[in-house]
Amino acid sequence: MRNTQDCKYSHGTCRQTCCGKTVFRKIYADPERAAAAAAHYRWISALGAVQVPALLAATESELTFEDLGSHHPGPDDLVTIASAMGDLHAAAWDRHLYRARLDRPFRCGELTISDFISPRRNLLARFPAAATSGPVAFYKDCNIRNFMTDSGLAVIDFDDLTLAPFGYDLGKLIVSSAMTHGRPDPVVVSDVLDAYNDRLPAGATCSVQRLRLYTYIHHELTSRYLHQHGYRYLWPDVSPWPAFTYTK
Ligand SMILES: Nc1ncnc2c1ncn2[C@@H]1O[C@H](COP(=O)(O)OP(=O)(O)OP(=O)(O)O)[C@@H](O)[C@H]1O
Ligand SMILES: [Mg+2]
Repeated sequence: MRNTQDCKYSHGTCRQTCCGKTVFRKIYADPERAAAAAAHYRWISALGAVQVPALLAATESELTFEDLGSHHPGPDDLVTIASAMGDLHAAAWDRHLYRARLDRPFRCGELTISDFISPRRNLLARFPAAATSGPVAFYKDCNIRNFMTDSGLAVIDFDDLTLAPFGYDLGKLIVSSAMTHGRPDPVVVSDVLDAYNDRLPAGATCSVQRLRLYTYIHHELTSRYLHQHGYRYLWPDVSPWPAFTYTK
């Protein structure tokens, strides 16, 4: 993120003053990415389950959002976030995704949400148990930086959206928090999973074994960003669980 009054970058985010109030501009090099992010935002916002910033303007290359402040959550906020994610995933399933399958893109009005399998084919060849035939939620990249806490919990960053099993994005939250803040208390992680599952429809809950599997997938995907984005630890060094050996 860049803090500047004068946003001249070709892509990235910056805070800017507009008509006497600060706004957040997100600039995209690729118009398709901008259009997709706006469509994802509208779909998530319409679910009405979580607070999102107002989208003040959308052009081919830029989205301008309400400025939600500057505070990201920390480890003490994980249970609250997990409840909000459970509400969001439950609302999406209830309204739309009860008809979805993980191996097929899902059409919802103007929006087509990518399936879970095709963008992750190589990874899932190594972790095939992650491709379940069970109930479908979504992945929107719930890394801990994609939440703000200045006036209640709010969700930001709508760039990515794919179908995913329930619990998959919760794994991203837990891994990104541990990579940023260090080893989480195992009791807190257990409370986080309970808080998420408490909000879900019967039959959609995520087991601790599946959550562990998803955290290892996120480790595979995120470890290359160590020493960037505030990531200071590798997941296997700070995981709350004993060493994980994956067997097919
Ligand atoms: N509406 C907003 N209000 C306040 N801060 C915001 C807002 N949108 C984005 N930010 C800030 O800008 C940062 C980057 O925004 P965003 O997550 O949308 O971009 P990104 O390219 O995905 O960055 P990252 O890789 O850090 O996730 C956020 O982590 C947050 O600090
Ligand atoms: Mg982000």
